[in-house]
Amino acid sequence: MHKIVIINSKGGSGKTTVSVNLAAALAASGERTALLDLDPQGSSMRWLKQRSEELPPITGIAGFRSDSNLTRSFQLTPPGNTTALVLDTPAGLDRRGLEAATRGADAILMPVMSSDIDIHAATHCIADLLLGSKSMSGRKRFGIIANRVKPNTRGGKRLKRFLDNFDIPVVATLRDSVNYTRVAETGQGLIDLPRWQAQKDIGAWEDIVEWISSFKQSDESARGPLRVGLSGAVRLAFSRNSV
Ligand SMILES: Nc1ncnc2c1ncn2[C@@H]1O[C@H](COP(=O)(O)OP(=O)(O)OP(=O)(O)O)[C@@H](O)[C@H]1O
Ligand SMILES: [Mg+2]
Repeated sequence: MHKIVIINSKGGSGKTTVSVNLAAALAASGERTALLDLDPQGSSMRWLKQRSEELPPITGIAGFRSDSNLTRSFQLTPPGNTTALVLDTPAGLDRRGLEAATRGADAILMPVMSSDIDIHAATHCIADLLLGSKSMSGRKRFGIIANRVKPNTRGGKRLKRFLDNFDIPVVATLRDSVNYTRVAETGQGLIDLPRWQAQKDIGAWEDIVEWISSFKQSDESARGPLRVGLSGAVRLAFSRNSV
């Protein structure tokens, strides 16, 4: 099983958007996919509750049970046959929290938006990740997703300049698109929309799935099934409370 953690300490940077759309894209590509929501806001789980049974299935795991009614129907651990696990994480994680959330990750994806505030916060978060996390050794599994990018705008250029400073791949660029707000309420991913509706956005999700596939196969032959870091989730709760 591959564990992909979506992270950025900055609130509203697109973690849930990336988590749910990635889970949908992986499910559509044939992965037996689980989505673990570590955020007490439970946005990923709310999205999943809306998902039609006719779409490729995703198992929900509520890492926080702040609302038992909301989360009651979800399992606590992924089914044994899960092949891809996506973790949606809360905002405000400090270095310890980032470390706990990314422990055992096969890949870390960080959505970054283009405002000054977002770029400033991303600098700190990247530094915390690189300094605090053993899982970052080699960094080849750490990718940025440039989010809500309006082409040829000052913001888009500023974000590109910022990302050029790092030796971290930009795995995909997501357009600022009303499609994301639409699917947030329907349990779909962009990948589940009709082609004509999402044709400008689908390519980004294909790029992300391909990036994950590029190391998945070799990893799988190198080791057996991975355990879910639910104890990491608990440590994360402590860490978050101390922020
Ligand atoms: N590429 C995009 N195009 C349009 N809207 C977007 C895009 N990415 C995110 N959004 C919107 O921005 C808002 C914040 O996104 P999201 O909830 O994914 O951020 P988050 O990092 O999970 O926030 P939090 O830190 O509060 O958990 C949401 O309303 C979402 O629909
Ligand atoms: Mg969120």
